[in-house]
Amino acid sequence: MASGNHKAKLSIIGAGNVGSHVAVYAAGKDLADIVLLDQNADKARGTGLDITQAMAMANIDRVVTGTGDYAATAGSDVVVITAGLARKPGMSRDDLLEANAGIVQAVTREAVRHSPGCILVVVTNPVNTMAQLAYEVSGLPRERVIGVSGVLDSARFKAFIAEELSVGASRVDAVVLGDHGAQMVPLVDHCQVNGVPIGNLMSPERIAAIVERVRHGGSEIVNLLKTGSAYYAPGTATVELLECILKDRQVTIPCAVYLEGEYGVDGLYVGVPALIGAAGVEKVIQLNLSATEQRDFDLSVVHIRERLDTLRANTRA
Ligand code: 2OP
Repeated sequence: MASGNHKAKLSIIGAGNVGSHVAVYAAGKDLADIVLLDQNADKARGTGLDITQAMAMANIDRVVTGTGDYAATAGSDVVVITAGLARKPGMSRDDLLEANAGIVQAVTREAVRHSPGCILVVVTNPVNTMAQLAYEVSGLPRERVIGVSGVLDSARFKAFIAEELSVGASRVDAVVLGDHGAQMVPLVDHCQVNGVPIGNLMSPERIAAIVERVRHGGSEIVNLLKTGSAYYAPGTATVELLECILKDRQVTIPCAVYLEGEYGVDGLYVGVPALIGAAGVEKVIQLNLSATEQRDFDLSVVHIRERLDTLRANTRA
């Protein structure tokens, strides 16, 4: 659908730090023509002009159109939702729950009304819950509503292991599943460097310290920036997913997917490895988790379900 001669159209809702970086990276990779929408239309327009001029310099024939009007997003192949509040120091992603829930539901309705054939890529936190709401509000099949989480957390896991062992991050195979938060599940028993299990390369204490750092990798950056949360790696993670869709890559990457029995979970968005191509989630990949990984995964699922239950209880009250 979005490959070959068809001129792909990508809309990004929210021109904050993450949305703007998704726009500049996606344009730089020549993935699609891009509409960048924000309730602050001038911010979106200014950012769109800036990125379009950067592309002219790079001889990339892509424009980024800034707007405040959903009509401009009509007929998008993919819509990325970044709209919502970001964390400040001291906040967890769960603290954003109710504020961002209303925003994501409203944005999803508008976006899907104008692009009923789109794939929705949800970035707003807490991402598993926001993807769930977008799925429910949109009425789209689960293949076409995907949350960005594990790609980012896996990159952090890779980067920390690479730093510890003084190797290039490209040598590290590392996957993070479950929630995108303190209960995420870095798969230690699946992690390898140049094909060697990390258990053979570092002590259990160092591995445990790295796992802890991955789980709090977003907060580490929030605490340093003081005014908001990370955006280079979240933007890159989102574009990784977009590239798989828009180029029909058929690559397995960890992302938040609505499970229907896979991993023993039914009716919930959870981070799992998924084969991504032009149709969105083409397949959920079932890994054989070790006993420890499975226990942590199950705890992560409980946390995601409790957060959704809390939201439903509070918004019905
Ligand atoms: C992060 O982990 C913002 O949740 C995002 O940095």
